[in-house]
Amino acid sequence: MASVRIREAEEGDCGHILRLIRELAEYEKLSDQVKISEEALRADGFGENPSYRCLVAEVFSAPGEPQGPRMVGYGLYYFTYSTWKGRNVYLEDIYVTPEYRGQGIGSKIIQKVAQVALDQGCSQFRLAVLDWNHRAMALYKALGAQDMTETEGWHAFRFEGEAMRKLAGK
Ligand SMILES: CC(C)(COP(=O)(O)OP(=O)(O)OC[C@H]1O[C@@H](n2cnc3c(N)ncnc32)[C@H](O)[C@@H]1OP(=O)(O)O)[C@@H](O)C(=O)NCCC(=O)NCCS
Repeated sequence: MASVRIREAEEGDCGHILRLIRELAEYEKLSDQVKISEEALRADGFGENPSYRCLVAEVFSAPGEPQGPRMVGYGLYYFTYSTWKGRNVYLEDIYVTPEYRGQGIGSKIIQKVAQVALDQGCSQFRLAVLDWNHRAMALYKALGAQDMTETEGWHAFRFEGEAMRKLAGK
């Protein structure tokens, strides 16, 4: 039987991670928003002062099967700060490729993020999900997360592009 390993990403994984980032954006019907390049992922995640960290899920074939390990999922996260709670982890992306869903891989990635968060002195980790993605929401709730829109009414905002330039006077 095939086995799964979750490990920290290495710089050489960035091409595969980008492939999975694009698959997730397609799933989210927001592919046109993906501007990132493999070079940027390499520079931003593996330089002197990395902006993110990433876990990858690899499937190893059963003995006798020719294929090497395949990267079938990832969870990309970084550290943020709460004035109420201190250090936090923000899970930016979580994705498992369709043929490997429902086998516990996504839950394993989320468990590992919780372990990293605790090991790094964080009291919580957060993530955002699109309002139609009920299956993902059901999974997060089943694992113990609270929906902050439901319980506290939070909305996510961003400044971007022209709006940000105008604001900055540039
Ligand atoms: C959400 C996701 C990462 C979970 O990974 P996974 O390996 O399938 O998760 P697990 O096997 O640990 O848990 C299975 C549960 O995931 C949930 N799930 C969420 N989205 C799902 C999907 N698109 N397909 C199948 N199951 C999904 C289901 O509740 C499922 O439980 P069920 O089999 O009882 O229905 C993965 O399904 C995925 O990549 N989905 C598409 C992209 C996505 O929604 N990403 C999250 C964006 S916020």
